[in-house]
Amino acid sequence: MTREVHWHQGEITREDRERLNGHRGITLWFTGLSASGKSTLAVAVEEALHARGGHTFILDGDNIRHGLNRNLGFSPEDREENIRRIGEVARLFREAGVINLTAFISPYRKDRLNARAMGPGDDFVEIFVDCPVAVCEDRDPKGMYKKARAGLIPEFTGISAPYEEPEHPEIHLRTDRLSVEECVGRILGYLIEKRYVSDREPAVAGLSE
Ligand code: ADX
Repeated sequence: MTREVHWHQGEITREDRERLNGHRGITLWFTGLSASGKSTLAVAVEEALHARGGHTFILDGDNIRHGLNRNLGFSPEDREENIRRIGEVARLFREAGVINLTAFISPYRKDRLNARAMGPGDDFVEIFVDCPVAVCEDRDPKGMYKKARAGLIPEFTGISAPYEEPEHPEIHLRTDRLSVEECVGRILGYLIEKRYVSDREPAVAGLSE
């Protein structure tokens, strides 16, 4: 394979796109067990940001594995490649000036750190969607925990494959104790406090603020 590939820089920069959009391009990286509430929260937060005029996009594990990552399974190597690709796509969305929300189990600390390290800057917000495995298993919306316990799904996260908890997430939410509204409130509160979005509803923070 030839490595004669060179980066081609366009005329329009990320800052140009962010100025036009009226806010920065950031990634909200939701991580947690299956059925912990990642997708539910991503959908609710996207709705709130959209209502404020934010340009948003959700990348969700269950959807992306039907298309871009349909050739990947759940071995540690395939999960690493899953998260590497999503990290790259999230970076492209940041470059496009979009607030992108990713909802993947992303069980390995190293893979999440790599996604963050794709950079640039402080535009990566890791949200630990924390819920005890017993509660996730009780929720079991897709019946997958039941199958995993019966040995029908190998390497199932939380049952027969590891989940490495984030050590320093920007936001940590116990979804078995907080309502969806409370979780969304905390995430928005963080984004406002860090000036990613404006507290003046429904406007999104301008770059000059
Ligand atoms: S990740 O570990 O590589 O980040 P991802 O978030 O893309 O996983 O996909 C997780 C979804 O795939 C789960 O919500 C579940 O529906 C399904 N799934 C199928 N097999 C497994 C498995 N062995 N472990 C975890 N999730 C699985």
